[in-house]
Amino acid sequence: MTEIKTMEFKDDILYLIDQRKLPISYEVFECKDYRDVDFAIRDMVVRGAPAIGAAAAYGVVLAARELVYKGKDEFLLELDKAMDILNKARPTAVNLMWAIKRMRQVVEEYKGLPPEEIYEKLKEEADNIYEEDINTNKTIGKIGNTIVPEKATILTHCNAGALATAGFGTALGVIREAFYSGKDIRVYADETRPRCQGSRLTAWELKMEGIPVKLIADSVAATLIRDGKIDVILVGADRIALNGDTANKIGTFMLSVLARTYNVPFYIVAPISTIDFDIKSGDEIVIEERSSEELTHIEGIRIAPEGIEVYNPAFDVTPHENITGIITEKGIIRPPYMENISRLKEA
Ligand code: MRU
Repeated sequence: MTEIKTMEFKDDILYLIDQRKLPISYEVFECKDYRDVDFAIRDMVVRGAPAIGAAAAYGVVLAARELVYKGKDEFLLELDKAMDILNKARPTAVNLMWAIKRMRQVVEEYKGLPPEEIYEKLKEEADNIYEEDINTNKTIGKIGNTIVPEKATILTHCNAGALATAGFGTALGVIREAFYSGKDIRVYADETRPRCQGSRLTAWELKMEGIPVKLIADSVAATLIRDGKIDVILVGADRIALNGDTANKIGTFMLSVLARTYNVPFYIVAPISTIDFDIKSGDEIVIEERSSEELTHIEGIRIAPEGIEVYNPAFDVTPHENITGIITEKGIIRPPYMENISRLKEA
């Protein structure tokens, strides 16, 4: 299995694979302070819900490092401001807020210690978030593999791979596990306009690993599904509400409608950290709108008329009734979602 190091924290620098550049070039983006991390998340150097969370946690570590020489009060005040900034870097993926919340809890618990020691505790917690995510994804892969037939053609959207997480991936983690367990796996990867995470990232990851993959334009999915060419659809998630409604990359909702119409199993693959236990339904999820340039330009070249109005939501919400199951590290959640997800919170 090829190891993809989405991020690495070493000697107080966060190294990120620059996902804006793949697959044309493999470049590493260095974050020397939390502002660099904030920029990297906003500009999608790093993207994908769990990866954003882990990167933000290291952003907090970098903020603490910078402030360690200040007096205690100033250290705590400025650290709090930095966490506020990181928390707002992108609005939809709840793993970001989840990770910042964990870092805030550490500050709260150890605020009596000198700044240098708080910094050490924060570093430990960021490492935990990072390592837990990789282990969680490996567990999800094993659990998810139980629903993959011996011979299966799988459709996926966006990139829910190693690049979107601390490592291994969620939806692609299940695909990896199925492939390495000896199953006959073929993948169709949606291009995923407008940022093309499918063609740039998913195709890159799977091809490098030798997992058979065909790239398709997003609009091809309907024909494949209608023609019985897809056995199962596996996608990631950015935020899951208590009732199972799930925000994921724009276009996911459309796939779920097709899946329901043509009776194809449609699974969300995500860690528990992607569940927002504070919201009852998808109506409460903030959907990020990104710049019009993502549609009007490709690599800086204009492909739409000057002055055209653009609507560019980055995510949509798949209603829970279209979801066959949610594959997590704690098992596969099935309907009724409200009941079964709420039970996880209590556990
Ligand atoms: O805008 P992006 O690239 O951050 O969107 C990513 C997705 O929608 C992924 O499918 C989701 O974060 C799950 S990643 C395991």
